[in-house]
Amino acid sequence: MPKVTFLSDKKSIDVPEGANLRRQAMKNGVELYTGPHRYFNCRGNGMCCSCRVYVKKGEENVSRRGFWEWLNTWINPLGFFARIGHEREMRLACQTRVYGDCEVEARPELNLHGEKFWN
Ligand code: FES
Repeated sequence: MPKVTFLSDKKSIDVPEGANLRRQAMKNGVELYTGPHRYFNCRGNGMCCSCRVYVKKGEENVSRRGFWEWLNTWINPLGFFARIGHEREMRLACQTRVYGDCEVEARPELNLHGEKFWN
């Protein structure tokens, strides 16, 4: 069974191969959402970009970004700004399947004033 480590929560969980990252996080009590998104989100349909996580390690062990995820991280400002400087590691948990061990950071902050944004 693949192991997912949530760095921000200091929690590791074993998940079935091919499991949906959002569902497994919620099932194991890992909060993915912040503020009003805890109550108002798209319920895993890949549209609100509020379930975003950074895959810090094991990027090769999660599913590739699909068209729907790619599209919504371009047109949704939350996803668009979160991607800046994290183009490869920023993923939507609801659109990500786990096939091997990985380490993820849940609830990453938007870094609108980061050095890369204004350059
Ligand atoms: S729950 Fe809305 S994009 Fe994942």
